[in-house]
Amino acid sequence: MRIVTIVGARPQFVKAAVLSRLIREQKAHERDGIEEILVHTGQHYDANMSEVFFAELEIPAPGHHLGIGSGSHGQQTGRMLESIEKVLMETKPDVTLVYGDTNSTLAGALAAAKLHIPIAHVEAGLRSFNRRMPEEINRVVTDHLSTWLFAPTEAAVSNLRREGRPEETIHLVGDVMFDAALHAAQLASGQILEKLQLPSRGYILATIHRAENTDDRARLCNILEAFQILSKSLPVVLPLHPRTRSVLRTEKTLERLAADLRILEPVGFLDMVALEQAARLIVTDSGGVQKEAFFHRVPCVTLREETEWVELVELGWNRLMPPADARAIVAAVNAELESNRVRSTPSELYGGGKAGQRILDMLQQKQASR
Ligand code: UD1
Ligand code: UDP
Repeated sequence: MRIVTIVGARPQFVKAAVLSRLIREQKAHERDGIEEILVHTGQHYDANMSEVFFAELEIPAPGHHLGIGSGSHGQQTGRMLESIEKVLMETKPDVTLVYGDTNSTLAGALAAAKLHIPIAHVEAGLRSFNRRMPEEINRVVTDHLSTWLFAPTEAAVSNLRREGRPEETIHLVGDVMFDAALHAAQLASGQILEKLQLPSRGYILATIHRAENTDDRARLCNILEAFQILSKSLPVVLPLHPRTRSVLRTEKTLERLAADLRILEPVGFLDMVALEQAARLIVTDSGGVQKEAFFHRVPCVTLREETEWVELVELGWNRLMPPADARAIVAAVNAELESNRVRSTPSELYGGGKAGQRILDMLQQKQASR
C-alpha cells in the first residue's frame, strides 16, 4: 500500500510523526510493501516551526518539499493545490493521508478528490460551528471528501453522523496527539526549566496564535493586558507564534511586553511538553495545547468562544473565556488557580495511546479487502 501523507504546519508534524513511526516499524517487519511518501507543503518554514519537529520526532526528510510559504488563504491554498496535484499524479498513491484542519489539509484533500484517490482524514468530525474560522471550512470540506474519517472523540463521531456522512466511513480511533504526548513524555527533559529558571508549578504557560485573536486588535490587547496583570503574581511564559510576533512588531508593543512577560521564540516539541508538564496553569487558543494540558493534567483556560474539544470543558479541565475583557480573563485564570475541584480523567478518553495503530490497521484491512 502506498500512502502519500500531506503535512505543512507545526501541529501536523506532531501528529504525522506517530503514524510515520508505526509505518516504518511495520515496513521493517513486513512483506506486503507498505510505503509512505511524505509531502511538506512548506506552510510553516522557520526552523523552529518545522525542522525542529522532524529532528526531535525522527520524522524522515519529506520526499517532496513544495516550498509554498505564507500568503492569503486563496493564494496559499491554490499554490498548494497545483503542486500537490503534480505529486499525486506522479506517485499514484492508494490513499492520501491528511491531518487536522489547516490549508495544507484542504489542499491535499481537494487535489486527491479530483484525482479519485481515496482520502483518509485524521482528526475528522471536529466542529466549532463557527464558519468565520478558516479551520472550520477546511474541516467540513475535508470531511465531506474523505473515504476514511478517523474521529478522535464521540463528539466528533456525532458531528459526522449529523452531517450525514456514511456510517461505514466513520471510525472512532482516539487522538493521535495523545499517542504523541505519551511518546514525548518519555523523551522530554527538564532542561528548559533549568535554563529559564522556572520553578515546577510556579508559572503560567501561554500560547496565542489564532487569527481571530491576533488579527483583532481589541481582543489581542485584552489578552496581553491580562497576561501583564497575571505576571505580577506568577511568571507568564509565552512562546510566541510568528503570526503573533509579526502583529506585535507592527504595533511596536513587543519590547514593552518583554519587560513583564517571559517571551520566547517558538520552542521545539520536547521543550514544549516539558513546559506544559510543569506549568501551574495553561492559557491558550491552540487546539493541540488545550488537549496537551489535559494529557499532562494541567488546568487550562482557552481564550475563545467555543472549542472543538467539548469533553474537556464538561470534565472541568478546560474553561472557555472569550477575550472580550482583560479583567474577566484574569478572574477566570485566578478562579482556576484557586479551585480545589476534583476533575475526572476517564481513561478511555482519546483512545489510550493506540489511535495511530488503529488507523494503520484499518487502512491495511480495507486495502487488503479491495
Ligand atoms: C496555521 C493554521 C492553523 C493552525 C496553525 C498552527 C490555517 C488556515 N491555519 O495558522 O489552523 O492552528 O497553523 O500553528 O492553515 N509565519 C512565519 N513563519 C512560519 C510560518 C508562519 O513567519 O514558519 C508567519 C507568516 O507571517 C504567516 C503567518 O505566520 O503569514 C501565518 O501563518 P499561516 O501558516 O498562514 O497560518 P497560522 O497562523 O500559522
Ligand atoms: N508547540 C510547540 N512549540 C511551541 C508551541 C506549540 O511544540 O512553541 C506544539 C504544541 O505542543 C502542540 C502543537 O505545537 O503539539 C500545537 O500547535 P499550534 O498551537 O501551533 O496549532 P493548533 O493545535 O492550534 O492547530
